[in-house]
Amino acid sequence: MSLLLGVNIDHIATLRQARYALQPDSPNAEPSPLDAAEDAKAGGADSITIHVRGDRRHMQEQDAYQIREHSTLPLNLEMGNTEEMMAIALKLKPEFVCLVPETREEVTTEGGLDVVEHYEELAPNVERLQKQGAKISMFIDPDLEQIEASARIGAEMVELHTGCFANAFGCERTYEIERLIAAAELGHKRQLQINAGHGINYKNLEDLYEVPHLTELNIGHSIIARAVRVGLTQAVREMRELMASYPQS
Ligand code: PXP
Repeated sequence: MSLLLGVNIDHIATLRQARYALQPDSPNAEPSPLDAAEDAKAGGADSITIHVRGDRRHMQEQDAYQIREHSTLPLNLEMGNTEEMMAIALKLKPEFVCLVPETREEVTTEGGLDVVEHYEELAPNVERLQKQGAKISMFIDPDLEQIEASARIGAEMVELHTGCFANAFGCERTYEIERLIAAAELGHKRQLQINAGHGINYKNLEDLYEVPHLTELNIGHSIIARAVRVGLTQAVREMRELMASYPQS
């Protein structure tokens, strides 16, 4: 099976909020995250990823429910491990939940979740979400201890944080790729599905192909940025075409 593409459409909501945060019910409020989900689907997205953050800076709860109700693509909800987000997830019933760390100060999710440190708080919520049918992914740095803890906690998947890879060039990139390879190999051995995300773009994608066992990539910023020039359906289509050359293991 070829690599799956989860398209993160948070930035569509960011653009709407830039103008309509104070008038959420305005008939003028645009662009629509649901329309974006449909455009991404037309371009070949396999799933839609959204992150309802504690500070509601982009996606609102209402967006999540609307996408859940009207989009036919599987939904991947990124969320911090809080009771507020648990209540939303239990009501939303997404196919996938990706547990992420979250702080108000960060521009975007900056580091991976520390599953080792927060094991006790995470474990019961992983179970609650799984009981309602969600598959759980841990968004972690490519760190072997984090892989082991994610396997121990019973998650079905890990999403390897590719932010350091994306921001590294030259030998630093080689080092980051080696970390990703080691994490992917251990995760595969532990029977975890290996996903990756953060900072992946049309230029660095091919460098990721050295990483074995990848099942799904979650990509947001670069696709939405490209969409400004060519439209979202075309931007997703182009990414899918590039992803078709990932070597099959
Ligand atoms: N995966 C996770 C867990 C994220 O938090 C993000 C950013 O919201 C992404 C993937 C997508 O990252 P980018 O927007 O850099 O493609």
